[in-house]
Amino acid sequence: MANRSNYKVTTRLVHGPQHSAKWDFSHHVTPPLSSSTTYRLDSAKRGARGFTEFGRLVRDVGEPPVYIYDRLDEPTRSILEGELADVEGGEACVTFASGMAAISGALGSVLVQGDEVIAHPTLYGCTHSLFENWYPKLGFGVKRVQLNDLQAVRAAITEKTRAIYFESPVNPTLELIDIGALRKLADEVNAKRKAERKVLIFIDNTFATPFGQRALSLGADVVLHSLTKNLGGFGTEVGGAVICPRWMLASLLLYRKDFGAILSSKSAWAILVYGLPTLALRLKRQQHTAKKVATWLEKQECVQRVVYPGLPSFPQKELAEKQLIDWDGDLAPGSMIFFELNSAKIDAEQFVDEIARSAYSVTLAVSLGHTKTLIELPSSMTHSSYGKPGGMAVRLSIGLESPTDIIEDLKSAMNTVTKTSTKNGARKNGATKTVKPPKPAKA
Ligand SMILES: Cc1ncc(COP(=O)(O)O)c(C=O)c1O
Repeated sequence: MANRSNYKVTTRLVHGPQHSAKWDFSHHVTPPLSSSTTYRLDSAKRGARGFTEFGRLVRDVGEPPVYIYDRLDEPTRSILEGELADVEGGEACVTFASGMAAISGALGSVLVQGDEVIAHPTLYGCTHSLFENWYPKLGFGVKRVQLNDLQAVRAAITEKTRAIYFESPVNPTLELIDIGALRKLADEVNAKRKAERKVLIFIDNTFATPFGQRALSLGADVVLHSLTKNLGGFGTEVGGAVICPRWMLASLLLYRKDFGAILSSKSAWAILVYGLPTLALRLKRQQHTAKKVATWLEKQECVQRVVYPGLPSFPQKELAEKQLIDWDGDLAPGSMIFFELNSAKIDAEQFVDEIARSAYSVTLAVSLGHTKTLIELPSSMTHSSYGKPGGMAVRLSIGLESPTDIIEDLKSAMNTVTKTSTKNGARKNGATKTVKPPKPAKA
């Protein structure tokens, strides 16, 4: 039989594992959707073995694991975890019920009271809230430091520092964090530390996905994902994943077992069968469209600034070319666009309200990495935990629609709500345009 490891990752994601003791792959083309809360144990000895061995098997090693109870481990979820570890180039993967469960689980399984996390100032709103609202109560310290300022990071590191945490690209600004530079710094600090006190680099790779960035090979220790986004890809499943070194696995599995936020096997199956095999295809199409939309946005008078890693104007071009590289070696600028509107020319809330009212190809909704193009206002929605509503920033997640349709819908909403000058020089909303009734059809 052909050796799976000789095949490209895109092919491996379509075909999945070639053999598994967990499933009869010789006869089934599609992996199983297993759905059993509990497992027959044959004997007390087998039950005891299952509990003793729990957490030890990292990958499918050809020996059937002893399944005991769904919350501990089960075949569909476990096959997905093997695939995610493979595409990220990691030793192990543990999935969770959501991206936030994965983030809190990964950090929670490592941190002890008194430990400190150094985190980038801008993060997804719920991660910001986790750090600001919950960590002080749990006895974890959090310092917010601009992570591209290495001097500031070095100055912030103390004996208590256990984790450096960030997203790259950052949600929603698309700023990139230099992973290799942080690795170098962490290595210097860690040279004098015992294994259990080493500073670990955690990256949330949700925006780039493993298609666009293999953060472990760039220097991260732990990769986090919201599977709800592009890895799931169709907007139907909520999930999260931690890709980590082997030594973290046992504690992470015990954490998940006891805190209980497991990914359902049905969601794992959908991500495995629909999400992963189509990941590269969707991303390539989304990026093609995103580049066109971002280029168009940049030319609009009511748009102050557009950030998209595929634009010549992207401020961290060199870093993008180092970090955001797809499986074919090409730049992978991603499916997210961040832009700021000019408040003198347009009102951000009126603009997205008009999208909600009149657009077909663009939907006012949070989340991202969907087949549908989604638009939202971070300051009053996904990042409202920062307490600064009413900003002019817009986050656009490009889907699979035709680029011209997306542009037409954005254009039409902009034209409808752009502020126009009145005779006395004051500005008012241009929603005054008279809309001509459609011509009656000729008989
Ligand atoms: C970058 C990032 N990380 C994590 C999450 C949390 O994921 P979930 O909604 O699956 O908990 C999100 C959600 O939007 C996100 O954008």
